[in-house]
Amino acid sequence: MRTAILGATGLVGRVMLELLETRDWVDEPPLLLVSERSEGKPLPFRGEELACLHSAETSIEGVDLALFSAGAKVSLEQAARFTSAGAWVVDNSTAFRMDPDVPLVIPEINADNLPPRGHVIANPNCSTMQVAMALAPLHKAFGLKACHVTTLQSVSGAGGIARSALEEQLRLCLPRLHGTTGPSQEDDTTGGVYPRQIAFNAIPEIGAPMDDGSFAEEAKVVNEMRKIFALPDLAVTCLATRVPVWNSHSASIRAVFERPVDREKALAVLADMPGVQVADSPHGYRTALGASGEDDCFVGRVRLEEGRDDVLLLWVVADNLRKGAALNAVQIADRLVAGHSS
Ligand SMILES: NC(=O)c1ccc[n+]([C@@H]2O[C@H](COP(=O)([O-])OP(=O)(O)OC[C@H]3O[C@@H](n4cnc5c(N)ncnc54)[C@H](OP(=O)(O)O)[C@@H]3O)[C@@H](O)[C@H]2O)c1
Repeated sequence: MRTAILGATGLVGRVMLELLETRDWVDEPPLLLVSERSEGKPLPFRGEELACLHSAETSIEGVDLALFSAGAKVSLEQAARFTSAGAWVVDNSTAFRMDPDVPLVIPEINADNLPPRGHVIANPNCSTMQVAMALAPLHKAFGLKACHVTTLQSVSGAGGIARSALEEQLRLCLPRLHGTTGPSQEDDTTGGVYPRQIAFNAIPEIGAPMDDGSFAEEAKVVNEMRKIFALPDLAVTCLATRVPVWNSHSASIRAVFERPVDREKALAVLADMPGVQVADSPHGYRTALGASGEDDCFVGRVRLEEGRDDVLLLWVVADNLRKGAALNAVQIADRLVAGHSS
């Protein structure tokens, strides 16, 4: 298998490379494709240094499988070049997620019909991913009717530039901590990476505004949940917030089911779901810090809403760079390769 990573120097691309190192089916070093900016930059792979190559100027002949993580515009520009050369493209951007001809896949949930070589497979949005992982076993057991999700999303979800902007704002804010006013919005000198200062703040806006008053990140959760669960009329609402957390997204979920929910059974089906760990005790939940660097999605605070036997409240945390992006893409690749060789 000859692999390529488009966007190898990005936060997600670097995790993809780390994960490919661990896969037996990757028998030769991946092609590391980047923009002109990072051409020649060395990245480590199995003890060697691989040089990044300018994507537009590098031949992709012989590539069997490409992981794309360079943004939607680049995906749209480059996908056909790879698929027409017979490669699978696993795309991490928004470019193809809602294309009816492209499967939107979480391997633990809906990897039944993966396409042959020469096709694109889309990786869901990071928040959708962890919410779907938590709700899939509950949907099987009780029938999902509706859900409301509030996300608390880390800065790594917005890429390397967003992390640098938080770092810079913190540097400016810290000297003010012992003043009378504390940090103020004057410390946002990072050039509009966020719609408001992120340091010491929480921002209820991610992505472009939509006609209905929501923002693009919220629309992604709504539309992608419906596609992944094959429930086009599922009632989903989302409030997505950006918080000054370095890595890993948290989400609070209120889910309504067709059938009455038994809490013990809910915990049991969550415990049986591959890729999910569930905590029963009130203090057993994970936080963003506890989920970072981990592969699983961590569910906790599972409880029935007062006065309702069909409404479950839960908290789910996952590493947005791993299960929310790179790991899921590599797990899709695992399935493609296994299906191809069997
Ligand atoms: N971060 C997350 O948690 C997350 C989760 C799910 C999905 N995603 C999606 O994953 C993608 C990457 O996210 P990220 O957070 O890793 O972003 P990032 O840190 O900003 O990295 C972007 C990558 O894209 C490359 N790139 C930009 N323009 C390019 C071009 N014209 N040709 C080739 N490569 C180009 C950059 O290479 P240079 O070094 O050359 O600039 C860099 O490697 C985005 O589509 C994002 O929406 C991210």
